[in-house]
Amino acid sequence: MQIRSSRDRRWTPDLGWSDVTPKSAWLNRRMLMAGAAATAAAAAAGPALAKLDYRPSPLSTDETPNSFEEITNYNNYYEFGTGKTDPAENAGQLTTDPWAVEIGGLVERPGSYDLGDILSGVTLEERIYRLRCVEAWSMVIPWIGFPLASLLDRVGVQPGAKYVSFETLTRPEEMPGQRIPILDWPYREGLRIDEAMHPLTILATGLYGEEMPNQNGAPIRLVVPWKYGFKSIKSIVKIDLTGDEPPATWKMMQGSEYGFYANVNPEVDHPRWSQATERKIGGGLFGSRVPTQMFNGYGDQVAALYAGMDLARNY
Ligand code: MTE
Repeated sequence: MQIRSSRDRRWTPDLGWSDVTPKSAWLNRRMLMAGAAATAAAAAAGPALAKLDYRPSPLSTDETPNSFEEITNYNNYYEFGTGKTDPAENAGQLTTDPWAVEIGGLVERPGSYDLGDILSGVTLEERIYRLRCVEAWSMVIPWIGFPLASLLDRVGVQPGAKYVSFETLTRPEEMPGQRIPILDWPYREGLRIDEAMHPLTILATGLYGEEMPNQNGAPIRLVVPWKYGFKSIKSIVKIDLTGDEPPATWKMMQGSEYGFYANVNPEVDHPRWSQATERKIGGGLFGSRVPTQMFNGYGDQVAALYAGMDLARNY
C-alpha cells in the first residue's frame, strides 16, 4: 500500500478561473481587489494571498478538474496516517499559522523567512493556478501558487548550488503518524537545481481559490507536475541549496523502487507493477484507466533537462 501510494504526478490544465471556482466569496473578493489595489492588499494580506488574483499558467492542459471533495478526501500524507482518508480525518489539528521557512545552504541571503513575507514578495504575474496530480490514480487539481524559482531568485542562489533539498515539519504532537517510525521523519525530498528553477515547478499555497487544505500540505508545498507525486513534498519548513544530491524519503526507504528523479515514465515499470496506465479518479467508483504519458505530458517542456541520460537507470 505504501508503495502504490507514491506514484502521483501533477500537471497544468487551462480553463478560465470561473470554470474552476464556483465560490462566490472568491469572486466578491476578487472584484474588491482588482488592479493596483490588489497589489497593495497582497502586501498586507500575507498567507491570505491564496484568495487573490491568479492567472492561468501558460503551461496548461484543458482537462476538467476533480471536485474539491475528491481532491481533499483521497490523499497521501503519512504524517497523518497511511490510509487515503486519514489525512482528511487527522490533519485538521495541524497549526499552520505562524509558519516560517528556513532557507539555507548555498544561498546569498540565508534565514528564517515568515510565510507572509515570502508571499507578499510574489508579484501578480508570478501567481499561477491549475496543475494536475496523477498517481496509480490521477487527479486534475487546480493548484494556486508561484514558481519556486521566484523564491530562489529572491534569496540568491550561489554558483556552487547543484541541488535543492526540502523538509516537512516535524511535530509529532500534531502529526500522529510521526509518533510511529513508518518513515524516517522528517519527510525529505530534493530536486536538481535546473528542475527546481523550471517554471513548471511551483510552491503551491492553495487550490480552488482556497488556502491550502491541511491534508493537501498546508500552508506551502511543492508541486512538480512531470514527476510522480512523492516528489511533491508537503508543509515545507526547510529549503537548503546543496552541492550534493540530498536525501529523499522514498529513495532512502526503498532505493531499488524509488529513484531520485521519479520522472513519470510509462516505459519504466516499477519493479512490482507496470507504470503504463493510470486510474482517473472521478466518474465512477473505480474511475477509468488511461495510458500514462511520458513526463506526464510535459515532454516538450522538460525532456531537454534529461538529454543524454539513461532514464531507465536514472528512474
Ligand atoms: N509530503 C509529506 N510531507 N508526507 C507525505 O506522506 N506524500 C507524497 C506527497 N507529499 C507525502 C508528501 C505522496 S506519496 C503523494 S502521492 C502526494 O504528496 C499526494 O498529494 P495530495 O494528497 O495533495 O494529492
